[in-house]
Amino acid sequence: MADYQVRLINSATSLDCTITVPGDRYILEIAIESGIRLPSGCGQGECSACVAKLLSGEVDQNEQKFLRPSELAAGYAVTCVAYPLSDCTLQTHQEQVLYPSSLYVSPPKAQPD
Ligand code: FES
Repeated sequence: MADYQVRLINSATSLDCTITVPGDRYILEIAIESGIRLPSGCGQGECSACVAKLLSGEVDQNEQKFLRPSELAAGYAVTCVAYPLSDCTLQTHQEQVLYPSSLYVSPPKAQPD
């Protein structure tokens, strides 16, 4: 199985790291093992916590169960169940971009005194 260079970027968090990911390992799993702090949740492709946008390259995310076809076509990827198929670049922290009204990312409501 080939290894691929996966670049993870996000200007808001000053993230720009390239990791080597074997083609039979999940991108998020290797990122976490490499000490990169990324959003994660279910770890099974069933939520939107780990969503990134694929800027270049290809991934296999056939195990994901959350993204709609239109979101997949737009390049969004669920990194917890995404295997690289080539060297690729992913823009991380895309849940808030994809789902601005998501309960996962709503800011905490102010509590009355
Ligand atoms: S952490 Fe839930 S889909 Fe990746």
